[in-house]
Amino acid sequence: MVGRMNSTSPISTTNSPVRIAPGLTLDDKLYTMAAAGVAEHLPELGPLSWETFTSNEWWLVPDEQTGEAYKAELTLFKSATRTVKINRWFAADRRDGRGPKPHNHPWDFHSMILDSSYVESRWLARDGDVVLEADVEHRIGEVNKIGREVFHEVTEVDPGRTMTLMICGPGMAGWGYIDPDDGTFTPATMPPRFLELQRDLNPHRQ
Ligand SMILES: [Fe+2]
Repeated sequence: MVGRMNSTSPISTTNSPVRIAPGLTLDDKLYTMAAAGVAEHLPELGPLSWETFTSNEWWLVPDEQTGEAYKAELTLFKSATRTVKINRWFAADRRDGRGPKPHNHPWDFHSMILDSSYVESRWLARDGDVVLEADVEHRIGEVNKIGREVFHEVTEVDPGRTMTLMICGPGMAGWGYIDPDDGTFTPATMPPRFLELQRDLNPHRQ
């Protein structure tokens, strides 16, 4: 609700929190941070409205191991050459319960940290070796640039506070996982039960 009025305060512009799904409630503080990020980095999209921010277009994304949501994402724009998303993080993005399982992405992307921070480890395959760049922290206001050649894991977040704006380039074939010991590449496949877990987390999408 925008612009509520009552007898004690002439005008209130505070939006009431909106619960999208279990575990995902959006409030005015999150909206303010997200809207400021869009205005700074993507003014061509126009102002982010409260209605867009609190729409039912959010997806909670399951952790393959626990089935819990490790992030929620909202796509703000999508074309053949560019995708823009807001990500709200609840837990690290580790795809194996026992050890590192770094992945890459089918696109180059920029990750703008809109609130708090996250920690990332990166692996780069160079001349037959795998070079690890561990525990790089990205903080509010910074831009993390990631190419398709980078394999990474988000190893630490500020649960419920870390928020990022992701601008992705055109999607290309061939993303997957790299063995951190020998650099062996394994193409990505749909994890078992992923769609079932995703459906369970997103009753608002059914
Ligand atoms: Fe990633």
